Amino acid sequence: MDVKDKVIVVTGAGQGLGRQFALDCASEGTRLALADLNLETVEKVAAECIKAGGEARPYQMDVTSEEEVVGFYDQVVKDFGSLDASINNAGILRDGLLVKEKDGEVVTFPLKKWQAVIDTNLTGVFLCGREAAANMVKLKKSGVIINISSIAYHGNFGQSNYSAAKAGVASMTVLWAKELAQYDIRVAAVAPGFTATEMVMSLRDEVKKKFTSSVPLRRFAEPSEISSGVLFLLKNDYITGEILEISGGARI
Ligand SMILES: NC(=O)c1ccc[n+]([C@@H]2O[C@H](COP(=O)([O-])OP(=O)(O)OC[C@H]3O[C@@H](n4cnc5c(N)ncnc54)[C@H](O)[C@@H]3O)[C@@H](O)[C@H]2O)c1
Repeated sequence: MDVKDKVIVVTGAGQGLGRQFALDCASEGTRLALADLNLETVEKVAAECIKAGGEARPYQMDVTSEEEVVGFYDQVVKDFGSLDASINNAGILRDGLLVKEKDGEVVTFPLKKWQAVIDTNLTGVFLCGREAAANMVKLKKSGVIINISSIAYHGNFGQSNYSAAKAGVASMTVLWAKELAQYDIRVAAVAPGFTATEMVMSLRDEVKKKFTSSVPLRRFAEPSEISSGVLFLLKNDYITGEILEISGGARI
């Protein structure tokens, strides 16, 4: 896909990787619909994108709400008259062990934290992918769906909820590629390793040290290094059903 002038949705665009995807797409002259739970941050990112040479509109949207996701994609098509790609990026972390012994008691991982991550990182991607595809099919347009998974999809210590959600995202990427090829819609995912965004930098220093020491390249990825992978997948018209791991060599 030649991304210039294409209408691209980015979810979770208010900070971190979503902000970087938005800025890098903007500098290639795309038209961006930027969604986030936090309207204030996504408004700032939209202004940065306009400065970088793109067209951008901010939207407040919760990816866990079916009503909001359906309404958002409808609104994007009304506002831009088109939809060419959706980068399904919004995600959260709520880590913890499945069970742990504390003061002679067995403490179990709370269902609430399980559900929060499944709702955002798995159901959110399902809803956004579904609505992106439905609108592309209605518009009779080819398109691209990029899902943001994580190398944690292989099964990461302390991340039952996150790893399960990211594995679900990887699996949906492969099966959507098969289902949607008939409509000329490509689907691919990027599975980043540890990346220097607010999500990771807010972790405790000893946790961060442990993470970097497990990466062969001995550092976190820069958001731009993940973003270049997303742009590669958007642009290459023969890639579909692929999970691109960008991890500095880290293996889980
Ligand atoms: N940073 C990493 O090391 C890393 C590694 C692998 C995968 N990822 C994935 O990349 C994506 C982005 O991560 P990040 O590091 O930029 O995180 P981040 O916390 O810095 O940013 C996430 C953004 O998503 C938004 N968001 C959260 N819940 C939302 C919801 N329900 N609806 C709409 N927006 C919502 C937040 O407001 C925030 O702006 C996530 O899916 C994450 O799992 C990150």
